[in-house]
Amino acid sequence: MTTAPAPPSPAGTRAGRKQIKNWSATLVATAASTYALDALAAAAGVGLVGSGLLAGLAQPLVAMFVVLSYACWGIGLRANLKANQALLAATGTSTNLLSKAAYDLVRHRNGSARAARLAAAVGYTGTELAKEAPYYAATFGATVLSDSITSHDALVFLGGANLAAALYEHGLARLTGAFLHRRRRYASFDTDWVPQDYLDGYYRSVEPDELATIAFFVDAMRHAERGRPVLFFGVGPTLHHVFAAAEIASEIHLGDYLPANLAEIRRWIDRAPGAHDWRPFVRHTLRCEGVSHPTDEDVTACEDLTRQKITELIRVDARHPRPVDRRYATVVSAYCADSATDDRATWRLLVRHITGLVEPGGLFVTAALRRCRGYTVAGRAFPSADVDEHDLRAVLAADFGLLDGSIEVRHTEQDAAHGYAAIVLGWARRRVDGSREWRADPR
Ligand SMILES: C[S@@+](CC[C@H](N)C(=O)[O-])C[C@H]1O[C@@H](n2cnc3c(N)ncnc32)[C@H](O)[C@@H]1O
Repeated sequence: MTTAPAPPSPAGTRAGRKQIKNWSATLVATAASTYALDALAAAAGVGLVGSGLLAGLAQPLVAMFVVLSYACWGIGLRANLKANQALLAATGTSTNLLSKAAYDLVRHRNGSARAARLAAAVGYTGTELAKEAPYYAATFGATVLSDSITSHDALVFLGGANLAAALYEHGLARLTGAFLHRRRRYASFDTDWVPQDYLDGYYRSVEPDELATIAFFVDAMRHAERGRPVLFFGVGPTLHHVFAAAEIASEIHLGDYLPANLAEIRRWIDRAPGAHDWRPFVRHTLRCEGVSHPTDEDVTACEDLTRQKITELIRVDARHPRPVDRRYATVVSAYCADSATDDRATWRLLVRHITGLVEPGGLFVTAALRRCRGYTVAGRAFPSADVDEHDLRAVLAADFGLLDGSIEVRHTEQDAAHGYAAIVLGWARRRVDGSREWRADPR
């Protein structure tokens, strides 16, 4: 998620006071982490030499140990760089002063979140490398000045210090992650979701993400087996994706976790007063299907056909391993699993449960917010799993063939309005059990 860079604020304003708070917190965290790292690394280095554990090791093996310790340190540092970037993006603070300075400078100069993240990483890594200098000076100085300290001792010391630094970087990354996790308080579907707010906020007109999603879904439906029931999983209070299945489905089943969402759909089916107006979305669907100038009659006919095909409204929960007691030739699930959790591992599990409903050779069609940590509905932040096209490809890889499928990214730049800048769209065919072959496209 990217946000516009904030202009510099005078110290007297609320924003100015926040900046002072962020810099103070960063200063304290930098000092604390520097001392903690130094103490830990020095103690580990001295301890390893003193223990004599590696005393008998031949020089080439000691050299290998040092190289390995650098690799471990690099891995730890990488984890910490990611955590630090997340911390900066979420709070404007860092555990490294130079990293924050570089991040803020680049953010204010050119506004690019990616460039700012890179600057933060360079600042952080630069400081960590600079912190290594005293270790080299101390170890090699001691080797030169003292007869009792050998070059073997110096290398063991360095390796021990590096391993401790690796552990430290990992620990700090985990602490930062836990801090961010606790801080991020999302609204809950169980208590805070208001279908009408969602419809008002997202579906008064066809916005860029839905222009792209509907076009993609219309195309994906051309790969679906005709004359079979289609399940929409996590449909919410919406119908805008459903029209794309009206022609090909024998029946349409709509599933969602919240009865209030299904009640909203029921109102549309029953043509109740105040039911949401989906006609602009129907019109867009028809255009994507090749009707260049859909008339009002075309739109009404599509709505009527859709109403006729919807035969079941089902309460589903993606946390359940078998959320529905049957399988489908086509399952469509848009912005559901990724919008139900802020945790990528949980997202994977939810996707597996949903895709488990696709029969062998069947079609799965999906959409997710890309690299988004939360989207807003009437001022409340709901979670998003921060996933991208690589995550989707990986989660589908075990059961689905992407040779006969597609995963695409669309940049929609809706950060200011909703909290995300891009979406991931995908369709894939489930492998026929027991083989790595794909069933031929039914078209
Ligand atoms: C952002 S809305 C998306 C709705 C619709 N598919 C769309 O594209 O607008 C997320 C939906 O996921 C549903 N949801 C949340 N947790 C769920 C769960 N555990 N199982 C099934 N659906 C869930 C919510 O009720 C909500 O309707």
